[in-house]
Amino acid sequence: IEDKWEGFFLSAIEVRGLCPIKGEITVQGSKNAVLPMMAGAVLNNGITVINNVPRIQDVFCMMGILDSLGCSCVLDGHSLTIDAAGLSRFSIPKAEMEKMRSSIMLLGALLGRCKEAEVYYPGGCMIGKRPIDLHLMALEKMGARIREGQGDEPLRASVPRLRGTVVDFPFPSVGATENAIFAAVAASGKTVLNGCAKEPEIVELCRFMNNMGASVRGVGGDVLVIEGGLPLHDSEFTVGGDRIAGGTYLLAAAGAGGEILLTGTGSQGLKTVTSVLKQMGAAVFEEEELIYLKAAGRLSAASIKTGPYPGFPTDLQSVMMAVMSRARGISTIEEKIFESRFKTANELQKLGAEIVIEEDIAKIQGRPLLKGCEVNAWDLRGGAALVAAGLMAEGTTIIQSCEYIMRGYEDICRDLSGMGACIRYME
Ligand code: EPZ
Repeated sequence: IEDKWEGFFLSAIEVRGLCPIKGEITVQGSKNAVLPMMAGAVLNNGITVINNVPRIQDVFCMMGILDSLGCSCVLDGHSLTIDAAGLSRFSIPKAEMEKMRSSIMLLGALLGRCKEAEVYYPGGCMIGKRPIDLHLMALEKMGARIREGQGDEPLRASVPRLRGTVVDFPFPSVGATENAIFAAVAASGKTVLNGCAKEPEIVELCRFMNNMGASVRGVGGDVLVIEGGLPLHDSEFTVGGDRIAGGTYLLAAAGAGGEILLTGTGSQGLKTVTSVLKQMGAAVFEEEELIYLKAAGRLSAASIKTGPYPGFPTDLQSVMMAVMSRARGISTIEEKIFESRFKTANELQKLGAEIVIEEDIAKIQGRPLLKGCEVNAWDLRGGAALVAAGLMAEGTTIIQSCEYIMRGYEDICRDLSGMGACIRYME
């Protein structure tokens, strides 16, 4: 994997604050859409091409896992070709599973293709316990026999034939919905998924599966009806822009002050975020495929609560916390998705932010000025939040452990410096 990772080994990012952001950006392809698509490609015994793939660590990691299973992945620029005809293994090493959460998508895909799978508990950002009970519930309802391993033992799943059924999700888990879609596409008969996640990334995944020959109906809603067992075929698909990366840049520009024209990701997926930014005093203009934002000086405080789509996206919670750190007044954030996603508050406090956490609520007393210093990224989106905070702070901010950021942002320094920010990697 490392030799596919083009960057030199990065250790930190240096940001000099208070440079106004001004420019246009077409945001990278969506990480959280392309990773499940790569798993879904396993269901087709042939070639699947995905275009506009971001060159990020998690994509290289997923390529490595697919290669280790006997597939062959080639990323030429931003075009990924997956040949899954050579799939010959259904067991994924523990070390690979622990690199990122989306490795668990292969459980449903391998069950669908090979009728068995051996995986381990997935890794990923430490933002909560992140169990997989809903994934297992859905797969067992479709007939999978699952034996969870003890200690170093893998989780073993097998099924003579996945059969269509009705699955009721008590919570719209994104990953569990994705695993259930893969199994349902391969199962014999019809599956109805009730209460499933309807994030834009799920909509893209359904379109990707239908483009491969599947029949997923109800796309965009919380009930999906899937006709399983249809023959799948080679296909080519272009993934849309990353709404979380796009939202990150919008929030960074709003916090630091400036002007940004964001293209490449539909504005619909960021409606909740742009409506809060308008309340805070930013000028926002939206069309279907672009968002223009202009902000100057200090914004006003706001209150948000994260939730499943179309609620405020938990992935932009930390970045919003950074923006609120300099807003006028007291803001609040209720984090209702991940129970440990406030870790970045400690780092923001080093920059002078005044934040009090009580259970799942953060109260932020906006300060007129933040002062740059050395901080540490603890997870992907928390790292992005520290970059945004650095842009808003007086002086220089150094963000250590920036490899977390590389997992999800193709080149955050390229993107932001292209819009006037003073930001660079340090070796
Ligand atoms: C996906 O994670 C995203 N990752 C996350 O983005 C995102 O934050 C999350 O969805 C919510 O939108 C990818 O798509 C690769 P969930 P996922 O299953 O699938 C609980 C980023 O920064 N839960 O919807 O893991 C879980 O503990 C990442 O790009 C169960 O209890 O999210 C959490 O509290 C971070 N049992 C909540 O549901 C289960 O079986 C949401 O999890 C599954 C989940």
